[in-house]
Amino acid sequence: MSNATPELAPPVCVDGEVLENRWITPVTKVMKIHAPDVAPGMQPGQFVNLETTKTLVPMLRRPMSIHKVVKHQGIASGFCVLYDVIGPGTQNLSEMTPGTKISFVGPLGNMITVPETARRATIIAGGVGIGPVKFVAESLQERGMRDITVVYGARDADHSVPVHEAMPDGCRPLLCTDDGSVGRKGFVTSWTEELIERNRLTPGDYVFTCGPHAMFKAVRDLLGKHGIAAEAATEEFMGCGFGVCFGCPLYQRQPDGQVEMKLCCVDGCLFPLDTLVFEGELEDGVSA
Ligand SMILES: Cc1cc2nc3c(=O)[nH]c(=O)nc-3n(C[C@H](O)[C@H](O)[C@H](O)COP(=O)(O)OP(=O)(O)OC[C@H]3O[C@@H](n4cnc5c(N)ncnc54)[C@H](O)[C@@H]3O)c2cc1C
Ligand code: FES
Repeated sequence: MSNATPELAPPVCVDGEVLENRWITPVTKVMKIHAPDVAPGMQPGQFVNLETTKTLVPMLRRPMSIHKVVKHQGIASGFCVLYDVIGPGTQNLSEMTPGTKISFVGPLGNMITVPETARRATIIAGGVGIGPVKFVAESLQERGMRDITVVYGARDADHSVPVHEAMPDGCRPLLCTDDGSVGRKGFVTSWTEELIERNRLTPGDYVFTCGPHAMFKAVRDLLGKHGIAAEAATEEFMGCGFGVCFGCPLYQRQPDGQVEMKLCCVDGCLFPLDTLVFEGELEDGVSA
């Protein structure tokens, strides 16, 4: 399995064109954007910062994971984002119709790092953390990985993205919802624990995870007990998206034990999960 990490393309600010913007759940849409100059450089785990309006409010762009790279005759010509409509920015996005020009900055952030020796993968996603999963899983399949399990938890049926939208064919979906309306009732940790018990998830597997902080903490603590490493796609509030505004801090434990402030947008958004330090876990003396 090849693990050559390509050099990342520098981000640019360009206008794409909305090709499609369709509902896939009562609260979630997938937007397809034509961007032939930028799409070939997009890597799994990266994101774009989308302008949602030409007026002043909301002023800040909204970061969205790259859900899929669209290919035309084998050549990358655009990309998709998958988003929940939750506030003014995503409301504006949801109203864009095919033909609309949309400015975005990208590709941003780092990309997944898959150990050369990994033969199996588990992807653990919660809520809109399902956004980057399809692109990540497709890229693992392209590297020759066939054994990919996707543990996906959502609030309820209305927030649960259908499996065929969430991941490529060939993945093993393990679903759960808080209310049990889709899949198992409970959290992603329940499935993850079962995978570990059955030796379906062991140290050396590649693990990618994306979701809210509470989920990261629970997954980190569970995997940590079993010596399983994971890569976390963090989704902090953002401003610029390229390291200028200091609007997206998070905290990371360094090899010497010190906790340092990092920027989600330029130092991540992918970090080793076991190095992340969350609110309530910070001691005094954090060095920035
Ligand atoms: C790298 C990255 C990738 C992302 N990928 C996706 C994606 O693929 N799909 C998707 O739907 N969203 C994604 N997000 C989150 C998305 O950018 C935010 O939810 C965005 O703020 C929504 O804009 P809005 O104006 O609609 O809502 P806002 O008014 O900005 O927020 C609405 C509500 O959501 C809360 N909120 C906003 N952002 C966050 C956040 N980052 N963490 C926790 N709570 C938040 C706010 O407190 C508020 O209550 C990503 C964020 C980052 C940083
Ligand atoms: S969003 Fe501006 S520094 Fe990260």
